[in-house]
Amino acid sequence: MPKSVHAGFTVITVEDYEEMSMVAAKFIIDKVKNNSKLTLGLSTGGTPKKVYENLILDHRKNQTSYKGVTTFNLDEYVGLADTHPNSYHYYMLHRLFKHIDIPDHQCHIPSGLVNDIEEECAKYEKIIYSVGGIYLQILGLGENGHIGFNEPGTSFSKRTHVTTLTNETRLANSRYFNRVEEVPKQAITMGIETILSSQQILLLVSGEKKAKALDACINGELDEDIPCTALQKHHKVTIVADKEALH
Ligand code: F6R
Repeated sequence: MPKSVHAGFTVITVEDYEEMSMVAAKFIIDKVKNNSKLTLGLSTGGTPKKVYENLILDHRKNQTSYKGVTTFNLDEYVGLADTHPNSYHYYMLHRLFKHIDIPDHQCHIPSGLVNDIEEECAKYEKIIYSVGGIYLQILGLGENGHIGFNEPGTSFSKRTHVTTLTNETRLANSRYFNRVEEVPKQAITMGIETILSSQQILLLVSGEKKAKALDACINGELDEDIPCTALQKHHKVTIVADKEALH
């Protein structure tokens, strides 16, 4: 049963990762069906993998169409080519985009391989603005409370920018690389202000490792050292979290 906490928060408690992925996929599919020109903000990492699998299954079974949908990913590592298996370009192409009918030119991910990275950040903001902003932003949660790659201490007023990843985040993400040293030290990320500008947010959280950050997000004070607490400033956040994350 959804239960209200902050005025803007709806918390949906689910049993486990499987159920979180099912509930989140249904939430997204309903939005796409209601608005064929939806603008979606997307995240990567372990959390949404199964959500994307469910979207693909539904697309095959029920022909839900993404022809009019536009997407913006939260972040990308600096220094990895789009074709690098650990880049978020590669992740999105292979885990979602190539399996649905979304046109390539409607899928946006910042490039981590440009000469002028500041210009790339400004350009990304401009494109988001030019399509009228993001309607639904999907978020995962870092163990240290990060959203996107906005690490602890990031100003809530930042828009898309270059960030230095904490050792904690590089260690957490090293599971996808051969060695922690291979994890890039920097990333481009939408800022917290960019995230808060979306009309709705869907935060997905699974597992005990996220419990402390999720507790701060729901019950803590606004604190730039715990970036997810910024979500308390938003008027419409749906949190789908499993029992381990909510314990
Ligand atoms: C990914 C992103 C990150 C992840 C977070 C959780 O695009 O922006 O904030 O959502 O690091 O990662 P997982 O899901 O791998 O635990």
